[in-house]
Amino acid sequence: MKFFVDTADVDAIRELNDLGFVDGVTTNPSLIKKSGRDILEVTKEICDIVDGPVSAEVVALDYDAMVNEGRKLAKIADNVVIKLPLTLDGLKACKTLASEGHKINVTLCFSANQALLAAKAGATYISPFIGRLDDINLDGVDLIEDIRTIYDNYGYETEILAASIRTVNHITECAKIGADVITAPANVIKAMASHVLTDKGLAQFVKDAEEAGIKIV
Ligand code: E4P
Repeated sequence: MKFFVDTADVDAIRELNDLGFVDGVTTNPSLIKKSGRDILEVTKEICDIVDGPVSAEVVALDYDAMVNEGRKLAKIADNVVIKLPLTLDGLKACKTLASEGHKINVTLCFSANQALLAAKAGATYISPFIGRLDDINLDGVDLIEDIRTIYDNYGYETEILAASIRTVNHITECAKIGADVITAPANVIKAMASHVLTDKGLAQFVKDAEEAGIKIV
């Protein structure tokens, strides 16, 4: 399973990348706003840090403008993935930009039918938003399962990029279902390493090592 970090904070990306857990990065206009940086500048900096795919999202809503913005974003670096919203114009732009050889992440997916259309439009990644479905009392993880079934039924190669991940349990569930990628905030990915019994066990080992005078070097 690939791990993308969902942020435009270069310090957080660098830290997680040094830990070896960054296969790629996703950004969106809200995350760019939070970073306080210019989109072209910060995307370039992220692409210099990370070898894997870096999603950068268009802000236009109509087909022609989306295609123009997408081409401009793709010029930033070879590992840029153009992120397009799941609208009819976005799907049309997906088809055009994919046919030019660009990688596309279709975002804001909330239904299996939307995911089916994105696959037919040639998307490299589909981003179903788990947390935002959970927020309105629907089951975001169920959507990942439905998309997995549909894509496998027809052999679509579009990768399921589970997004809007809020908890470590979301990641476990996505891994069980077979999502290709998760994108999550850095703190959620780091929290996967924590367990109360690990902390308790380690404290005991440290105590016993001190009491026994164990030295290795
Ligand atoms: C995905 O690409 C989005 O950037 C992101 O996962 C949205 O997450 P949120 O619902 O926590 O804002």
